[in-house]
Order: sequence, then structure tokens, then C-alpha cells
Amino acid sequence: MDSSPCARKLRLAVLISGGGTNLQAMIDRCLAGSLNATIEVVVSDKSGAFGLKRAERAEIPAFHIDYKSCAQSALKKAENLVDLAELDRRQKILKISDPNRRLARLAGLVVAESEIIRAIDSFEPDYVCLAGFMRLLTPYFISHFNARGPGIINIHPALLPSFPGSHGYEDTFNYGCKWGGVSVHFVDRGEDTGPLIAQAVYPLWPGEDIEKIRSRGLALEYEVYSQVINWLAAGQVLIKEGTDGAPRIEIADPDYASILSAWVQKALSFS
Ligand code: GRF
Repeated sequence: MDSSPCARKLRLAVLISGGGTNLQAMIDRCLAGSLNATIEVVVSDKSGAFGLKRAERAEIPAFHIDYKSCAQSALKKAENLVDLAELDRRQKILKISDPNRRLARLAGLVVAESEIIRAIDSFEPDYVCLAGFMRLLTPYFISHFNARGPGIINIHPALLPSFPGSHGYEDTFNYGCKWGGVSVHFVDRGEDTGPLIAQAVYPLWPGEDIEKIRSRGLALEYEVYSQVINWLAAGQVLIKEGTDGAPRIEIADPDYASILSAWVQKALSFS
């Protein structure tokens, strides 16, 4: 289902923090020729992330950016990069009430993000794909990659707008949901709030545990993420305006209904 006709392969930068099974699924599909993209560079905020090894094995340039060291004496460095007070007015991710602490934290993020930008800019990515990257991004980073339209996409392990944050599978399971889901969306300034591009659902059968749910969901994530990348490559992701003026996404793929139906069939047939 990942073989939409496309004008050209997209150049991707993939950001990870952990095991990188989504990254591996992308690498495998690139090799198999079913993903209309090339993974140009991988960046992790964790030095021990297994995803870095996956990238190295696939001979993809891979970098680690250490957020902790970037936070040291960040205020001065960040002021050379952005107007911090102005950035603070635009950001929606840090809720720290003490303004000095908030600015210091924001400065640390901006310095780390400037390092990521430095690591990936020379690869000229069409899109930055977040694949288990467990950091919130400031408007500094987002504006950089959104300059020519939405340029950052994220995979989230829940049916947004339910269960944003870092525990999508656990939250779905603990709530007692009968269906769970995965969502791919453009990244905006909020946490998991950007315009939805695609969603798929899976059942939670009685007696199943969280690990079962996670593996069923992850298998679906690989399908949905690669399909979204192929839609982007094919120019089939259209940005419209919703009734509230906010961006809404429409997929212009004649096979859209059969792709969604295949996802449902697949979710029902996972053991
Ligand atoms: C995935 O469930 C993804 O949706 C979430 O983090 C997890 C990353 O898994 N954001 P992996 O590193 O790709 O295996």
C-alpha cells in the first residue's frame, strides 16, 4: 500500500530518542523501494539510543546532541540566536511560572535545537520526521523548518486529540479504551496539537496486556508513517482551511478509502 506514484524521492531527517523501530521500518522500506524517500541523516538526543546503531548499520550519517551540555551557559548563547523574550511569548510548551527559570530552560532548548539544525541543514531535508523523539520543540526550531510550509511531521501513539504526551499506549490501555489508534500530524507550537494527516485504529481485546497493545500499535505506526511520507512525496497532502480558520489536511489519493480499509483489516487480523 506504500507505492503511490511520485514525482521524486523526499529527503528526510529523522529525529529519535530510543529504539528506533519506526526508523528501521523506514530504512527497510527505502531498501525495498516502497518508500519514496531517502533518509539523509538521523539525530538523537540520547547517546545510547539503539536507533543510532540502526542508522550507522544502514550507513546513514547519525549524530547525538547532548541537551544537558547545551543547557550550560545557554542564556548567553541563546541570546545570540534569538530574541528570547519574544520567543517566550510565542512558545506554548513550557508552563514554568518563574520567568527566570522558564527563560533559562528555553535558552537550553534553543541552544540544543541550534545544534540539531546545524547537524541536519547541510543535508537539505524536505521534511524532519520525529520518530520517537521525546523532546518538545520551541518555535525557534519549528519556524526554521516551516519557513516554506509545514516541514516537520510526528508519529503519535494514540488517537489524537485524545492522549497527547509521552504515554499514548499506556493512557489508551489504562483508560479502558476498546479501540486505540496512531496519528501522524504536522508539528505546530503545541504538544501533539498540529494538523492531523492520517490516523489508524486497532482493537484492544479483553485480557490483553500493554505490551500486546504496544506491539499491535507499533506495527500500525510503520504502515501509517510510510504511507504519509509517500502521500507527501506524491503531493497528495493538501492543506485547507477549516471552518475555524485552522489548517485542515485532505488526502488527494484516489485509493484513500481502500488504504484506510486495508489498515482496519490489518489491525483486526494482528494476533
Ligand atoms: C513510538 O510509539 C512513537 O509513536 C512514539 O515513540 C515510540 C517510538 O518507538 N512517539 P521507536 O523508537 O520507533 O521504536
